[in-house]
Amino acid sequence: MLEVTGFTKRFRGIAALDNVDFSLNEGEVHALLGENGAGKSTLINLIAGTFPWAEGVYRINGRTITSLTPQVAQEIGIAAVFQEFSLVPDLTVVENIFLGREQSSGLFLKRKQMRQAAAELLDSLGFHLPLDEKVAFLSRAQKQMVEIAKALRMRPKVLILDEPTASLTDGEAEKLFNAVALLKARGVGIIYVSHRMSEIRNLSDRVTVLRGGKKIGTVVTAEISDEGLIEMMVGRPVEQLFPKIEHKPGAVRLEVRDLTTEKRSVIGASFTARAGEVVGLAGLVGCGRSELCRAVFGLETIEAGTISLGDKPVERPTPTSMLAANVCYFPADRGSEGLALARSARENATMSSLDLPALSSGPVLKFWRETEAIKEPLGNLALRPMAPERRASAFSGGNQQKLMLARGLMKSFDVYLFDEPTVGIDVGAKADVYNLIKSLVEAGASVVVSTSELPELINLASRVYVMHEGKIVAELAQHELSEAQVLSHYFGGHA
Ligand SMILES: Nc1ncnc2c1ncn2[C@@H]1O[C@H](COP(=O)(O)OP(=O)(O)OP(=O)(O)O)[C@@H](O)[C@H]1O
Ligand SMILES: [Mg+2]
Repeated sequence: MLEVTGFTKRFRGIAALDNVDFSLNEGEVHALLGENGAGKSTLINLIAGTFPWAEGVYRINGRTITSLTPQVAQEIGIAAVFQEFSLVPDLTVVENIFLGREQSSGLFLKRKQMRQAAAELLDSLGFHLPLDEKVAFLSRAQKQMVEIAKALRMRPKVLILDEPTASLTDGEAEKLFNAVALLKARGVGIIYVSHRMSEIRNLSDRVTVLRGGKKIGTVVTAEISDEGLIEMMVGRPVEQLFPKIEHKPGAVRLEVRDLTTEKRSVIGASFTARAGEVVGLAGLVGCGRSELCRAVFGLETIEAGTISLGDKPVERPTPTSMLAANVCYFPADRGSEGLALARSARENATMSSLDLPALSSGPVLKFWRETEAIKEPLGNLALRPMAPERRASAFSGGNQQKLMLARGLMKSFDVYLFDEPTVGIDVGAKADVYNLIKSLVEAGASVVVSTSELPELINLASRVYVMHEGKIVAELAQHELSEAQVLSHYFGGHA
């Protein structure tokens, strides 16, 4: 139904996409796979008409399209859910779903109909959302669900999903997979971008692999192994994803006792993190591990309990006081908490280290010192392209995540709190992040990693706490760490 050939897109002369062919059949899920910056988002932006294309042929249902605006794309039945959301924070869930296609005449009645239609649509997807809440107050996962509902609102023939599960809970992701299966059965063609191999394996019929803006190949998913796909993606076999970490647990750096947050997202949680070790926080998305990290960093109101750093109790944590006490936090949601998208990569990377004496001198000197200081962290994380003066928004999704991580590496901290550090990061760069964690720990830092990726916990942590419904339900030592062990506690049950 859809066929593009010779698609090329240049940004200031540099090809982000280079002579790529791509096709999509009716009722097919066609996955796009590639490293951060490979050109996946660029390709789908061209297909959806959000980027104008200058070179290449675009055919849909036998018709050749010569120019495409997002409006025309909508008319011909192409809908997209992008990595960066297009929702209006001040409007409600219902208003956002109908944005641009409000049923205008007879306002009152229509309002009711819109609400009804939105409720039915969300219901058919199995998504539970507060219909009249302003989108600004929703979690990232909820915003994601609104985006998906909005895309499906116009009954598209082609649906594009760019890393749709990056912030969904397992249950929500399951609902999305069901929706994908349903649409597929109705003949909708789906372009699916994901860094998660299991999703590509379970959902897709074919996979197209991009590398450096070029198409490496299109394969039938059932006919290729994961290793084969990774090799196509990075151009070499990836021998070792996880480094071996030498844990040398020393003094207690962070101690949390009976912590309860005002919102009850965390209830009576106690844990310790020592110098020279990685402590894992496991559990389903929504179990409270993100909120636990946020609370320690002073981003959640604490109702009861204590936090101590070394043997010093922290009276009322705030991000400023925690940074000053050498604690650094990396949020999971780089969009709303993490980055200033309109500012340069350099400014983003240096943002939380502005208190560093070495950086805070006159503007010229500061610029030069910052430029020097960020070279190493950005190099370690393999930022691509290595262009510190470029706006953060001009980097690919995974590279934006790296900018945020670079921030905490500008100076050395005693305690690092990572929430989902590898969301949206490709296989090769994941290894860079793991190596970075290794070097922090082996230099004596205490690292807390909250993640939904079980392999990360099993391979990186020296101890793991499992959370369920706000409570810590288990603590597992390194020799007890297996997927089965960790999972057995996920639903609050006992091994
Ligand atoms: N607005 C822009 N200006 C300049 N370069 C850009 C812009 N948008 C994207 N690029 C560049 O185009 C290339 C492809 O980026 P793209 O966003 O398509 O990658 P991606 O495959 O989606 O990666 P990720 O997995 O990280 O989301 C990258 O090198 C990126 O830096
Ligand atoms: Mg992308």
